[in-house]
Amino acid sequence: MHKVIYDTDPGVDDAMALLFLHRHPEIDLIGITTVFGNASVETTTRNALFLKREWNIPAPVAKGASVTIDPSRAEREWPSMVHGDNGLGDIEVPGTIDLPLDPRPAHRFIIDTVRAHPGEVRLVAVGRMTNLARALKEDPEIARLVKDVVIMGGNFYVPGNVSPVAEANIHGDPEAADIVMTAPWKVTVIGLDVTSITTMSRSYLGEMAARGDGAVKLLNALSQSYIDFYKHAVEDGMMVHDSCASVYVVAPELFSSISGAVRVVCGGVADGQTIVKPDGRRFPPGDWDGLPSQVVCTGIESGKVIDLIRDTLLTA
Ligand code: BDR
Ligand code: CA
Repeated sequence: MHKVIYDTDPGVDDAMALLFLHRHPEIDLIGITTVFGNASVETTTRNALFLKREWNIPAPVAKGASVTIDPSRAEREWPSMVHGDNGLGDIEVPGTIDLPLDPRPAHRFIIDTVRAHPGEVRLVAVGRMTNLARALKEDPEIARLVKDVVIMGGNFYVPGNVSPVAEANIHGDPEAADIVMTAPWKVTVIGLDVTSITTMSRSYLGEMAARGDGAVKLLNALSQSYIDFYKHAVEDGMMVHDSCASVYVVAPELFSSISGAVRVVCGGVADGQTIVKPDGRRFPPGDWDGLPSQVVCTGIESGKVIDLIRDTLLTA
């Protein structure tokens, strides 16, 4: 069993990835930590509790960061044109959910849980990297105690989605992402190189909803305006960014990758750009030297990933 803490900013594609983690028989979802990003942390936390309640997810929810690791960074607007004003495609969601939150902040929940299961916990992070960076700052030793970190974020050999060079999760907190990429733990980076070519059509999701239970029907409903948003890039379908990271946990063979140290540009015109120095390539001394080699996914068997999502979501 893979013990997973899911760090997330639900978020439409976050919701699908959550249902995958909850339903996959080889995954033990032991915690959900929230972060700002697709909406405020109040909204993403409410959404996590809403999905926990609707989908009967036993994992506790811990509320996380509401500002970047460097608090002097200017605030940006929420991407409501992508995920709706309420982060879940503007379906009806109650203002408050009558479920308890874990009393700890997300980064403390991560530290305590990793320390309780040394060498076992896999962190799947699909929002801004702020909670992970905070956990590392407060307790750097956890880097050696987690099993690995799988993140959705970044772009290497394709353009970004919030600027020509930057992807949303990294661009939302570049300093935090640089801390996460350069820490002495194993990070697998699932970026736009693979997620932007992994799309699910409206009709495919609709057929899943017709065959599936109430959870899949809810997922279908909350995904409709997100699919509308993707009209500019996808033929009546959506990129399933965050689910790619969830799938990697159980099916890494569906991905190809390179390895190398990764840095994140912090500031300036390329703010939030992720850059890998591929292992074996020689350059004069520079800012990638002596840093851990991470795994950067560059290829994906998209059709198999989409089918695995379907089969897992329909297991209930
Ligand atoms: C990422 O940004 C968010 O909008 C999505 O949930 C995903 O995690 C894609 O760039
Ligand atoms: Ca996300």
